[in-house]
Amino acid sequence: MKKRTLLSMAMVATMMVATFAGCGGGREGATETAETQTTETTEATDSAAEETTADMPGFDAGATIGISLPWLGTQNWKEAEEMFTTQLEEAGYTPLVQAADNKVTQQQQQIESMIENGAKVIVVGPVDGSQLGSVLEQAKEAGVYVIGYDRLLENTTGVDGVVQFGSVKTGELQAQALLQGLEEKKGDKPYNIELFGGGPADPNAPNFFKGAMSVLQPLIDDGTLVVVSGQTEFTQCATVDWDNAKAQSRMDSLLSGFYSDKEIDGVLSPNDGIARAIITSCENAGQDIPVVSGLDAENESVEWVWQGRQYSTVAKPTDDLVKKTIEIINSLQAGNGMPSTDVTADNGVIEVPIYELPPVVVTKDNAKEVFANDPSRLDLLK
Ligand code: BGC
Repeated sequence: MKKRTLLSMAMVATMMVATFAGCGGGREGATETAETQTTETTEATDSAAEETTADMPGFDAGATIGISLPWLGTQNWKEAEEMFTTQLEEAGYTPLVQAADNKVTQQQQQIESMIENGAKVIVVGPVDGSQLGSVLEQAKEAGVYVIGYDRLLENTTGVDGVVQFGSVKTGELQAQALLQGLEEKKGDKPYNIELFGGGPADPNAPNFFKGAMSVLQPLIDDGTLVVVSGQTEFTQCATVDWDNAKAQSRMDSLLSGFYSDKEIDGVLSPNDGIARAIITSCENAGQDIPVVSGLDAENESVEWVWQGRQYSTVAKPTDDLVKKTIEIINSLQAGNGMPSTDVTADNGVIEVPIYELPPVVVTKDNAKEVFANDPSRLDLLK
């Protein structure tokens, strides 16, 4: 089958499956409501959009701005820590930046102390999207603006808006790149594949998986793709805490359990750290490297993509996300309220205004183009 045919089939499939793509998207550790809700973004009604631009009180130009990050375990969060610190200082604010080591209680305490320290805005990338409800409502009662960063804040009225890259779209891009790589590198179908998801507490993880499955499921159904282990539910494929070591040991077990007499052709990976763990596991098992997707354009994976060791990643530049967030903080500081946006997401309780940026897929073919304005990544391509 020609590449174009496979990809366009995948796109039609995306639309067909959209109606039942929720299956297999259950979340370990999430509440019943969070499990059944969809976080897909929708166009806001006029009234919802208007509400976001209502007059709101501004604050002092040197105010404290709290930044609460979930952990520093992947490059994007380390970049966020640095960029928020530098760029908020440059803008004249007093940044208070903390990371929670993937622990919900630690993050709740950090947010409480940001409120006590007089923060006017608290920007939150949650460890667990649905576990911060009361502390965020406390922040709102104290007159603090709350902005979700990179991940949705679920089951709470204590959120003014969320800045993020399209998460369902990210999963679609990962799956489309996987298909493209299989065609390019692995010859005739059918292709043996396995599926990995991210941390089940992170609202992005089921959405990445949902987007990917909207592309892959029809090709699994028609036999083009064979998930040899049969593990296709998000709960079976998720990687608790986005822990690379856990992903590597799951891959080791899949290979020893299902591939002793088979070749693995491709693996859906939700981010770069997990992609490298999967590739390492395959190398250790003496398999040829399968086509593996990724996310974040981490330096090490950009090198691996360039060397042909990892097939693809998805760029979601931290600098763009941080700049967008600071733009919103500036609007709040000036008393202009939240900027208007056409996109909202149901967080289980309210429709949250979403400020959505587009993720971009990266393979060896377009890497130079994608990183044309990112000198440090461009430098890795040699
Ligand atoms: C982010 C990814 C990151 C992952 C693990 C997700 O919410 O969107 O960029 O790789 O968390 O830290």
